[in-house]
Amino acid sequence: MTEENGALAAFNTRVAEDHLVGNWVIEPHLVTLGDGPKPACAPHVWNWKTVRDHLLQTFSILPDTEGARRVLTFLNPALPRGTTHTLSSGIQLIGPGEIATAHNHSMNALRFVIEGAPKLETVVNGVPCPMDNYDLILTPSYSLHDHYNGSAGNVSWLDVLDVTLYARLNQMFFSPHEQPRQAHRNVMPGDGPAWLRPRWGEPQDWVQYRFPWSETYPLLKKMASQGPGTPTNGVMLEYTNPMTGGSLFPTMSCTLQWLHPGQTTRRYRRTTSSIYFVIQGHGTLTVDDKALSWGQHDTFALPNWVWHTFANPSKSEPTILFGVHDEPAIRALSMYRDQVAEA
Ligand SMILES: [Fe+2]
Repeated sequence: MTEENGALAAFNTRVAEDHLVGNWVIEPHLVTLGDGPKPACAPHVWNWKTVRDHLLQTFSILPDTEGARRVLTFLNPALPRGTTHTLSSGIQLIGPGEIATAHNHSMNALRFVIEGAPKLETVVNGVPCPMDNYDLILTPSYSLHDHYNGSAGNVSWLDVLDVTLYARLNQMFFSPHEQPRQAHRNVMPGDGPAWLRPRWGEPQDWVQYRFPWSETYPLLKKMASQGPGTPTNGVMLEYTNPMTGGSLFPTMSCTLQWLHPGQTTRRYRRTTSSIYFVIQGHGTLTVDDKALSWGQHDTFALPNWVWHTFANPSKSEPTILFGVHDEPAIRALSMYRDQVAEA
């Protein structure tokens, strides 16, 4: 160590004792950023059967769950918590007659139904939402919600929340309701057209909470019949808030994606992170040179700013994916960038 370096090191130590750091310490790290941030987490696939088998064991281990919270959350192998660095996801399973008790929280959440049933419902701000397979149900920030399984079998769904982002920003609030369940409203959104709402109350109290698969799938199929869609994502539709035309949440957007048999997308990267649920078919996600395979009802995480492709190797069957992305949050902060690789 030269005399000059020794003096600098001693100075760095002295200022650190007063909780200070010199820019000459930070700048070398900035230079190593190169062409952008390192991905904040790892790509990973969670196998549906494995997760479901674990959840079924909770009936003997936790026969009386507090509020029937039989949920297993997907932990990204590269993170201390969260499925990506902003999103959290998992599978919830509830048995016959069980209630997941009413509460509200600051975090936005959604349910994508995997095993629906008659007499299964989520109630959101007094609005009963039936849960059929692949229906999407929203429980936005501070909405009161509970779930009830009035059917004779087990039911399950995918949960996705922006809780990881909320935790990082230290904005988490949670309130249990005084009753296990809430009453249904007498008049509600859906009783009339999406372009009429009461003048009293807040606009967010009069929004569509349920997006039924019976109405989304026909359009997706029809769009897919028109061609391969975009080079980077195949045929992709985005769910929108009928009141605003924008994304479903301020923090998360939701998409449906159709990959034709044999289709492989162009290499692409975005500053957003995503969670994908496989509705139908099988395929691979390739990140850099690593290929991850997935099948029906598996869930996988796609980190931010990684070069990736989707492929459907089937000769006859399309692949259909439900995706949740932190894109609205990233765009609101003017951080969105994307890049398509040269052909
Ligand atoms: Fe909740």
